[in-house]
Formats: sequence, structure tokens, C-alpha cells
Amino acid sequence: MRVVEAFRDSYGTEPAGVWHAPGRVNLIGEHTDYNDGFVLPFALPWGVTAAVSPREDGVLRLRSLQAGEPVTLATLDEAEGWARYVAGVFRALRQAGPERDRGQEQGQGRGRSVGGADVVIDGDVPRGAGLSSSAALEVVVGTALNELYGLGLTRMEIALAAQRAENDFVGMPCGIMDQAASALGEEGKALFMDCRSLGTRNIPFDLASHGLQLLIINTGVHHELADGQYARRRKDCENAARHLGVDALRDVTDLAGALARLSGDERRRTQHVVTENHRVEAVIGMLRAGAVREIGSLLNASHLSLRDQFEVSCAELDVAVESAVRGGARGARMTGGGFGGSAIALVADDRVESVRESVTGAYAERGWAAPEIYPATPAAGARRLL
Ligand code: GLA
Repeated sequence: MRVVEAFRDSYGTEPAGVWHAPGRVNLIGEHTDYNDGFVLPFALPWGVTAAVSPREDGVLRLRSLQAGEPVTLATLDEAEGWARYVAGVFRALRQAGPERDRGQEQGQGRGRSVGGADVVIDGDVPRGAGLSSSAALEVVVGTALNELYGLGLTRMEIALAAQRAENDFVGMPCGIMDQAASALGEEGKALFMDCRSLGTRNIPFDLASHGLQLLIINTGVHHELADGQYARRRKDCENAARHLGVDALRDVTDLAGALARLSGDERRRTQHVVTENHRVEAVIGMLRAGAVREIGSLLNASHLSLRDQFEVSCAELDVAVESAVRGGARGARMTGGGFGGSAIALVADDRVESVRESVTGAYAERGWAAPEIYPATPAAGARRLL
């Protein structure tokens, strides 16, 4: 395995173990996770593989086969660029230590405190595609440390530590969806999650037996300002919830009444979040009933809502979605945070070529580089490989 050879080359020993965590794509339930709502992502066949050995001296040595120079961090605060996602997980798990130590005093402790590590990373999530390569990196590191230091964390606790790494250390105020999908995904299934209770259920999502494919259309663009926009959307939602006197937009039960009390951005954001939660529930109902082909119209409705009410789409995503539907897709929507990244399209096997042609043609007409288009199937979540 490439990552093991690189580990030997870099550190002159065998790694203590090799772990893998996948990227994710979200079927439906967008910008709902930080509103305590519902999401339905699944783990992808692409992800991040890490060869890791623990170190007792607290030092962190990192090498990525996709990035330049290896780095050595005597302290976590020295981390820059991609290394921050790794360092952030160390920080989150070290901070969890005191709680654990208290447990230990009461005789229920687990593991020893997190020291340092030698790490080599190899990833194949298409980057900048909005498919959560950063969550995969966080979760693979959390999964490795959990085993190496005997922390006894559940998969959800690893996902939460990974989210804390991103919120507190990297400074991106993301929700829990991406890390949870990476940690808890199962082959052939989508992960339904209630982001308030953190309850999850793996829902069978077998496209092939229905003669369907889910195509990912990677626009290849990532618009500037996107990062600040995410935080602003979150604020809009929190402000709207405060005006309505509810803990989170998840709690809005009378949408018409709520909209009558709001205006402007807060009104639009609320309309999206509340209807998107209903769409997730409707998709779950259809999947349970075996009506996989019928979810297309809900994907379309989700896209329009993200475009017009939540305002996180962009021209490249809109063209991808519209041209996919024109080419015969049963439904399509932007997926992930927005402002670039990827769209998904649900397509019957015999329409895949015409959808590809339609999307590629629409991009060519505008003088845009051809988007990458590939089918996605639900894969297993984080796991040990060696
Ligand atoms: C990003 C965040 C997620 C989620 C999506 C939008 O991927 O990391 O937590 O909020 O955007 O659904």
C-alpha cells in the first residue's frame, strides 16, 4: 500500500496501523444541520487513508502525498494549511482528556491521554468539489487516535471531535453532517440523521436495482467570499430563530405564521430550512416505500429553494442542474455548502449519456471548462484497513 511505503520512507519504521475515512455527498437536507434539522448524506468510495504511529513526546510529524513538504509540529499552534485539520483533532481529543480523567477516578475511565504521532496521509477525494475532503481528513485522524490511545469513543463522538476541530481550530463554523457521514456511513445506505438528538439511521439506497445512477457533477469552481457567506447564513438562521422565540428553525411548526412575522433574509432563510426538513422526511418516506425514482422532484425543489431562498447557488451550479434535467435527469440539485463545488443528478441508466452531453454542451456554450461527471454509490464509513 502506497501510504505504508511512504511511511517507511519517511520514518524508517512500520506504522502501528492504517485507517481510512471517506468523503461524503449529501442527497438532501442542505443547510439544515446547524438548524437542528434533518440531513441525508452518504459516504463516498473516495476518502483519506492515514498510516499512523503514536509518539510519547507529544510531537506531530505529518506528511501528505498530495501536499508539498512534510511538517514537524512541536506544538499544535504551529500548524498551517491542511495540517490545521489534523492538529485540530489532536487539540479536540486532548481537551477531552480532563473529562476522561475524571471518569477514570470514578473507575469508568478509558484510554490514556493523547500524545503525538507520526502520520502519512494519502487522499483521493476530488478536491474543491465540496465532497468533504477536510471532514475525511479529520475523521481518519480521530479514528486512528481513538484506537491508538484506547479512547473508547463512539463513531459519533469521533465525528463531534472532528467538528470541534473545524469550528474551534480551523475557524469554519460548520455543522455536524460531513463528519457524521464520514464516521457513520454504511455501504449501500444513506445516513439519515436528526442533528438535534444526533440519532441516526442507515437507510438502504440501492440505485442499481432501480436502474438509476446518482451522478456527481463537479463544477470545478469555488467562488471567493464563500467562507464568509456560510457564517452569514448561519447568523441569519440564528437571528430568525430568536425573532420567532424558538431554539432553532427546526422548531418552526407553523411556517405561514412564522413567515408573516419575518422579513428579508431571515424570512427567506426560514422558508428554506423549514421546507427542506420536510423534503428530507418526504424522501425518507419514498425510499422506505421503494419509490427511489420519485425523489427527483424533491431534489429539484431543494435546488430552487437553495437558489432563491437560501441564496447559496451560483451560475455554474444552476447551469449544471438545469442542463442535467433538460438532458433527462429525474431530478438534480446543488449539494454541500454551495457557491461552487458539486451538483448531483438522479438519472436512469439509459439517460446517463444524454445528461452528460447536455451538461457538457451547456458548459461549452458558455466557454466554461467541462465539469467532471461521475457516478457515486454509498460506501462504508471510517474503518481500520491494516
Ligand atoms: C457544509 C458544512 C455542513 C453543512 C453543509 C450545508 O458542507 O460543512 O455542516 O452545513 O455545508 O448543508
